[in-house]
Amino acid sequence: MKSVVIGLQWGDEGKGKIVQHLSKMHEWVVRFSGGPNAGHTIYYDEKKFVHHLIPSGSGKNKLFIARGTLVDLEVLRAEIDSMASIFENITQNIYISPWCRVITPVEKELDAKYEEMKGSMAVGTTKKGIGPTVANDAHRIGIRIFDLFDEKRAKEKVEMLVSLYKSVIDLNANEIFEGLMKNFESVKKFVREVTPTGNVLFESTQAIMLDPMYGTYPYVTSTPCLPQAALYYSGFEKGKLETYGVFKAYATRVGSGPFPTEIFGEEAEKLRKAGNEFGSTTGRPRRCGWIDLPLLKYACDIADVDHLIMTKADVLNGFEKIGICEKYENDLVPYDLENSKAKVRYVDGWKDLSDKAFEEFIDIIEKNVGRKIEYVSFGPAEEDIQRMNRKGF
Ligand code: IMP
Ligand code: MG
Repeated sequence: MKSVVIGLQWGDEGKGKIVQHLSKMHEWVVRFSGGPNAGHTIYYDEKKFVHHLIPSGSGKNKLFIARGTLVDLEVLRAEIDSMASIFENITQNIYISPWCRVITPVEKELDAKYEEMKGSMAVGTTKKGIGPTVANDAHRIGIRIFDLFDEKRAKEKVEMLVSLYKSVIDLNANEIFEGLMKNFESVKKFVREVTPTGNVLFESTQAIMLDPMYGTYPYVTSTPCLPQAALYYSGFEKGKLETYGVFKAYATRVGSGPFPTEIFGEEAEKLRKAGNEFGSTTGRPRRCGWIDLPLLKYACDIADVDHLIMTKADVLNGFEKIGICEKYENDLVPYDLENSKAKVRYVDGWKDLSDKAFEEFIDIIEKNVGRKIEYVSFGPAEEDIQRMNRKGF
């Protein structure tokens, strides 16, 4: 069995926790996209842990960072160290593809520089170097982890990168090279290509609306977020994937770009506080809004979702009124979301998830997206999740 977990909104739907839950049914968990821009918050027993590069899991899985992942070796080293302090044998279970592209200080500086130069058109990136690493890869001047096994070649590549951008940023090639090699030394024992067999769970990052091809371009990330990318970016030739699509009972977005159901002021503040909606990678307050069902349907259709999972339903407990968008004033045009106007109507809230009003909320979602919700997650712990049956929660 091969499965993939993807986000259906703008990220931060709680994919990490769902991956942790499903990881018990899989031997391997594989990351195939994104890089240290991702922040998957999960709990190992009571201990909170934010994964940036290593896939989430149960602590017993084999964990593979596949070739589509952009790797910052410093972040990776720190994350391996933190994991080793929780799990005794975890280091035996970590595999990193030598094909992975390396994020260097050059790309991180470029990310910040481009954002500054774009002014009001800035994307609001995490400044982890994602866009420039993909760009340099397309220019075929990227550095792969594999390149670092040959010091001479690695040094030449770093020198070329630094000299190519010297009119924009002023960096010291030698210092960058030394830094890369130092971090590489401590992670190189994990660098090995592998083709996982048996039950494999792919952990996607970001979400459909941040996908560079299907999302709200140009306000998107730079690596693919669709399930269709999982096999290609992990080194698998073929296979059928069970797709688990995760969405929140409301919506959030970090960074710039259109967000038709966004709310502001006190209403937004209340939701942000209730859901603790602050970026786990950057700490930025997340923009908040109501659930957007036409957009959710768009995402489900593109991703061909087999299993639908709603998270953070409990965050809305006690809200008197809850907003829902079922329609747009004009037509929803995903590539022109800036000019698409969402209509939000308010329905009665619920005290807790056993209320009739919550059941009605689920009915509205299912009717609009044309799929059944299979699981509802109602807390951060791995076991706070319930399979839905139609007799209520
Ligand atoms: P980048 O991926 O750092 O280039 O950022 C591009 C856009 O994606 C920005 O709006 C970021 O806020 C957003 N983004 C990137 N990673 C995440 C994530 O893990 N969760 C939510 N938003 C993200
Ligand atoms: Mg996150």
